[in-house]
Amino acid sequence: MADSPQKPIVIRDLESFEDLQQAEALEREVWRLDDRDVMPLTLMIATKEAGSVWVGAFDGPQLAGFAFGFLAMESGHITLHSHMLAVREPYRSLDLGYKLKLAQRERALAMRVPEITWTFDPLQSRNAHLNFGKLGVVSDIYKVDFYGPETSSVLHQNGTDRLWVRWPLASRRVRDRLQGKDHRPEVLDAFSRLQPLVQFNGDGNPLRNDLSAALARQRIAIQIPSDILTVEQKDPNLAREWRQATRWAFTEALRAGFFVAEFARTVRGHQGPGNYLLEKGSIAEYVPELQRRPDAPR
Ligand SMILES: CC(C)(COP(=O)(O)OP(=O)(O)OC[C@H]1O[C@@H](n2cnc3c(N)ncnc32)[C@H](O)[C@@H]1OP(=O)(O)O)[C@@H](O)C(=O)NCCC(=O)NCCS
Repeated sequence: MADSPQKPIVIRDLESFEDLQQAEALEREVWRLDDRDVMPLTLMIATKEAGSVWVGAFDGPQLAGFAFGFLAMESGHITLHSHMLAVREPYRSLDLGYKLKLAQRERALAMRVPEITWTFDPLQSRNAHLNFGKLGVVSDIYKVDFYGPETSSVLHQNGTDRLWVRWPLASRRVRDRLQGKDHRPEVLDAFSRLQPLVQFNGDGNPLRNDLSAALARQRIAIQIPSDILTVEQKDPNLAREWRQATRWAFTEALRAGFFVAEFARTVRGHQGPGNYLLEKGSIAEYVPELQRRPDAPR
């Protein structure tokens, strides 16, 4: 295994049986799953043959990361639902996750699929930054224990709550984000005026602030730790408190008509807590290019 990549990494479709075998091994390595939770190779082959999108990042012949998305029907609209994105540890923070999402986007647009959806753990700061900050997703759905209370994965030991995110591929918001238009000053300015609904209390614990005061405002911030996996390893009870507090904040805010618009770290780099920014109002007005759900307000 390479300590760090030496050659340019090539992003391409997974094509052969061996490519998919490498994806299976990489899934085991990244999520550290029992056999019962690993996607069977036969299903991988079937989804690929039936038009699902499997893209990989290759360091020579070796797979460094991959993304898998299947065609789906959501509220009467065709989407690509991205079920897995994984980059091996030595290759992280080199933009590979981002490039794999761009490759998924290209494949989806070529199939005239305008939206990709996926889920992620809202306590994972890295994923939040990649999804909201770099890619420009939005979300108005929070799923409590989406995969059940736990799975065999090391990444699923603190419950499996998920934000269901939507990526409107050709929208102005996403195009601006992919062109690197800097949205951070505006977002950080918003945070500077808000007391988060959940925030650090000074000794690493989550503090819940007044809900009715927060719901009366136009915007809500929700703070998360910069590295929840380290918190989980050192103090599982504290990690559970963060889960309970942020679950409370997201579910109450979304129920009251907010949606999740942004995420930003308080300082650049990996350190420092991150903040979600939730806006009150219609997600469809905020991003007009989103496919309309039948139950959405007009
Ligand atoms: C999520 C994952 C795919 C990201 O892959 P990656 O190749 O590291 O992604 P990128 O390099 O494109 O982007 C990561 C960004 O997060 C930043 N980052 C790293 N640690 C961070 C942290 N603790 N908090 C916030 N941001 C962080 C990186 O600096 C980088 O941002 P930048 O380009 O602005 O500097 C990878 O971490 C992974 O495989 N995780 C485990 C599996 C998983 O969670 N999959 C997704 C859900 S299904």
